[in-house]
Amino acid sequence: MSLDTPASKPHQRLAQALSGDLEAVNDMIAARMASEHAPRIPEVTAHLVGAGGKRVRPMLTLAAARLCGYDGPYHVHLAATVEFIHTATLLHDDVVDESDKRRGRPTANLLWDNSSSVLVGDYLFARSFQLMTETHNIDVLRILSNAAATIAEGEVLQLTAARNIATTEETYFKVIRGKTAALFSAATEVGGVIAGAPEQVTRALYDYGDALGIAFQIVDDLLDWEGGAGIGKSVGDDFREGKLTLPVIRAIAAGDTNDRVFWTRTLEKRVQEDGDLPLAQEILARHGSLDSTRKTALDWAARAKSALDPLPDQPLRDMLRDLADYVVERLV
Ligand code: IPE
Ligand code: IPE
Ligand code: MG
Ligand code: MG
Repeated sequence: MSLDTPASKPHQRLAQALSGDLEAVNDMIAARMASEHAPRIPEVTAHLVGAGGKRVRPMLTLAAARLCGYDGPYHVHLAATVEFIHTATLLHDDVVDESDKRRGRPTANLLWDNSSSVLVGDYLFARSFQLMTETHNIDVLRILSNAAATIAEGEVLQLTAARNIATTEETYFKVIRGKTAALFSAATEVGGVIAGAPEQVTRALYDYGDALGIAFQIVDDLLDWEGGAGIGKSVGDDFREGKLTLPVIRAIAAGDTNDRVFWTRTLEKRVQEDGDLPLAQEILARHGSLDSTRKTALDWAARAKSALDPLPDQPLRDMLRDLADYVVERLV
């Protein structure tokens, strides 16, 4: 058997270790995504949720709670909340990005329409808030509602930075810390908070989630350029949309006048022809931007791993460490 069989992947090992909890989360998601009043809702949610998804964020919440010795019922509500917030943002994100593929399936905006995606996304957001109130814990409400606001801020900041080739790395990191890392760090932090863990531990969980989320989004942005086995999304979406992600920001900074003319036309004016995507890929490779971006992702994964040091030395902690490596390795 090859070492690379599915069961050897860190997120699958984590899923195995948390299998009872994860099953409870999946049951809760299935029960709460339905609606008796508007049949369009279960149609859209069943399409998206039925396609799976890696469930990385709910596993983070479950693992954090268990690592902190939690044995109550509410980590399941919180994990389902986190996945609902994530799913709501995906529905909205595919409208904003005009994407046609998600989780290996046509997007909801393509199969139904933008209005359905926006409104069902709103419904899932509302359901996520209902779920989290059931924990009766004001701290987790604060953390998760802050995260929801921060995600929206990140998406809006990205919108205003798109098509601007003067976008800096500083802005890029602000965007990804908001749109992606905020939910990762909230997911890990609430697991510790619901368990009543001390401040030093919840801080470590936050730091781990933050660094992991940043590494995760950097890799997602690389995959948008490089593709990869089974990513379930189209390659080149970011280029077509004029989105300034780390590889492009670095290539623009390293480029000459010819490059600048190319980026101005394709990204700022969004005048794109057949052959522009491979040409852009070639420019990125020429400047080593893909390799340097990969190194940056590795740095953030290393930060995530060292953030785990104050946590109890248990197998779950090792799995979270391995997950940080895997987030970057899924590139190969
Ligand atoms: C996709 O997240 C959105 C990003 C933040 C890049 P995932 O890659 O975790 O999506 P699913 O849930 O597994 O489909
Ligand atoms: C995903 O951003 C972040 C959120 C959903 C808030 P992207 O637009 O980069 O993610 P994908 O590539 O569509 O999954
Ligand atoms: Mg998108
Ligand atoms: Mg997007």
